[in-house]
Amino acid sequence: MFEEEEYGENLVVSTKTEYDAEENVLRPKTMADYVGQKKVKENLSVYIEAAKSRGEALDHVLLYGPPGLGKTTLSHIIANEMNVAIKMTSGPAIERSGDLAAILTNLNEGDVLFIDEIHRLNRSVEEILYSAMEDFALDIIVGKGPSARNIRFTLNRFTLVGATTRAGMLAPPLRDRFGIINRLEMYTNEELTEIVSRSAKALEIAIAEDAAQEIARRSRGTPRIANRLLKRVRDFSSVRGNKEITKEDARFALARLEIDELGLDQTDRNLLTALIEKFGGGPAGLETLAATTGEDANTIEDVYEPYLLQLGFIARTARGRICLKDGYAHMGLAPSAKARKQISIFESDE
Ligand SMILES: Nc1ncnc2c1ncn2[C@@H]1O[C@H](COP(=O)(O)OP(=O)(O)OP(=O)(O)O)[C@@H](O)[C@H]1O
Ligand SMILES: [Mg+2]
Repeated sequence: MFEEEEYGENLVVSTKTEYDAEENVLRPKTMADYVGQKKVKENLSVYIEAAKSRGEALDHVLLYGPPGLGKTTLSHIIANEMNVAIKMTSGPAIERSGDLAAILTNLNEGDVLFIDEIHRLNRSVEEILYSAMEDFALDIIVGKGPSARNIRFTLNRFTLVGATTRAGMLAPPLRDRFGIINRLEMYTNEELTEIVSRSAKALEIAIAEDAAQEIARRSRGTPRIANRLLKRVRDFSSVRGNKEITKEDARFALARLEIDELGLDQTDRNLLTALIEKFGGGPAGLETLAATTGEDANTIEDVYEPYLLQLGFIARTARGRICLKDGYAHMGLAPSAKARKQISIFESDE
């Protein structure tokens, strides 16, 4: 049995406490302001319009992709476009099934419940979610022993928006209950340039177009990184006494931050170096690479690897990670004969 008073609102992290004011200013509020992700936006817009015209709640939405690509932002936009409230929580924050029950019974008709890191829900909580998503019902066992009985609560129709960096870690029964599944892609340099310019305007920072391009190019396809770099570059630029951020400022600041021409930082370079020098270009398992570089295996998989894969610097094979031709070239190293042979399996032009 759960007690509403005990578990209610404290679990639901409000946007105001989670993000500082500056973050909020940078967050696009409407689909039209959300840069890139054309396919996802177009499809979602259709589903939103259709649900609204039928006067129904939007089907449950799963958003997945590497960190910082705009999953949380998009969930707010969905609620905004549906004209409903959004409640936010995360997988690890919901410890007991009673916690989730309290959140669910507090939702109004059509509301969005956003669960971040949904792959980290525990089993018993996840099972409560199944009937909630499918039948908008909550089955609770009240009492113990022979007097225990099952009570079914009816819930308001709500929209679950789940976000995860690991779609593969979702249990199939959970995954199957999402009617809309969207993968967010890394952004192009043009899109990131637009985001940098847009953010600069919101923060009242003057920036030259080529400086915005320079930041975009080194943001690893990720808006969050683009915004972060913009703020750091601004600091360097204003200390240099400049009124407008120039390309030269951007290059200077990014060099000081040890972010190279493609946006790789020291950790990326350590990973590539380890793969090349310690493992002859691989294959090396994730855990082995983590141990060698002193990085956390999950962090490598979620944060570093996606961009290195996107650049085509590394590849994932059944036996581990291998370094590809462009990865060697970027590090200024040449693959051995054995490594070349391995690479040729992945790169037909080799
Ligand atoms: N499409 C976009 N257009 C403009 N700005 C964006 C876009 N997507 C994300 N941003 C900006 O990038 C920042 C990070 O986005 P967000 O917090 O939504 O990412 P996330 O996918 O939820 O990341 P995480 O997986 O780490 O939770 C936001 O502050 C927002 O300003
Ligand atoms: Mg998020």
